[in-house]
Amino acid sequence: MQMAVNFLYIIFLHLVTVVVLQSNATPEVPGLIVFGDSIVDPGNNNGLKSLAKCNFPPYGRDFKGQSATGRFSNGKIPTDFIASQVGIKEYLPAYLDPELSDEDLLTGVSFASGGAGFDNITAKVASAYTLWDQLQMFEEYKRKLESVAGVERAAEIVKDSVYIIVAGSNDIMVTYFISNLRSNYDIPSYVDYIVQAASSFIKNLYNLGVRKIGIAGVPPLGCVPMVRTIRGGITRECVEIYNQASVLLNRELSAELTRLAQELPSSQIIHLDVYNILHDLIMNSSHYGTSVHACFIYIYQEFSYGESRLTDPPVSRDSRTLR
Ligand SMILES: *[C@@H]1O[C@H](CO)[C@@H](O)[C@H](O)[C@H]1NC(C)=O
Ligand SMILES: *[C@@H]1O[C@H](CO)[C@@H](O)[C@H](O)[C@H]1NC(C)=O
Repeated sequence: MQMAVNFLYIIFLHLVTVVVLQSNATPEVPGLIVFGDSIVDPGNNNGLKSLAKCNFPPYGRDFKGQSATGRFSNGKIPTDFIASQVGIKEYLPAYLDPELSDEDLLTGVSFASGGAGFDNITAKVASAYTLWDQLQMFEEYKRKLESVAGVERAAEIVKDSVYIIVAGSNDIMVTYFISNLRSNYDIPSYVDYIVQAASSFIKNLYNLGVRKIGIAGVPPLGCVPMVRTIRGGITRECVEIYNQASVLLNRELSAELTRLAQELPSSQIIHLDVYNILHDLIMNSSHYGTSVHACFIYIYQEFSYGESRLTDPPVSRDSRTLR
């Protein structure tokens, strides 16, 4: 399991390192701010009546104090590793954590909410916070930061911090395919809708003073265990149409981000391809050894949040059925 976490961590670290290294003028990164879905949610949903929450065992069993903080993980989540790697702090807290300190505001928080997507309907269905709700929280955060650090320093922190957005998977997988909530769209037009929503979200961030943004692409969604179970037939194959939609979204979003980075002065906006690394890991898992196969499934277990109240950790169930 540790290996799977490390793997995602390496991917995300790469993303952050690229953003940080490109910023030659200001090498110092005061903070890390995160928006998105369950991959990077440290517990913002804890106070919600939502199925998309994890503040109960077995979640957190490898976390400090074995506490189920609301992270969709047995331990740390990728943004915790990044925050500690870039020397900011050991854990990146949830903005809605009731114990959040002033010090935490200075070094960044996560607004991410399990179940969210670029499409508002995605979070609404999961009773989670939409990305636009998260943006409003960010505006509130900025005001608090100003009262803690002063207006000038707050603006510097906002400008020099690194922002990570992880979203899109729930839109494609849950909203479009599984729930069929956007039946008036075909895949290309829905992808376009998502890309426009993402683009508008980034412009809003930019207008609030944000400059360094990294957006993670979506993984091969046709290979998520839940999708293989419900759509992959008796042999639980990866589902090609989901993967094609993932590839299209990554390609279109990446092109839009390149365009945005040129349009918005002194912005650094990058897209990170996680698809190909993960696809290779799934299809060629034997190249990586058996433990990776089992571990890898664990990364994906969070997608099956509808089943998250099972008493057995999903990992052992999934890895048994898949072997
Ligand atoms: C999502 O909702 C917000 C707030 O209501 C709105 O401003 C935004 O345009 C919506 N985004 C999309 C893509 O519909
Ligand atoms: C699996 O490995 C082969 C040989 O290295 C490579 O050609 C292929 O692209 C890999 N598959 C995926 C899905 O990356």
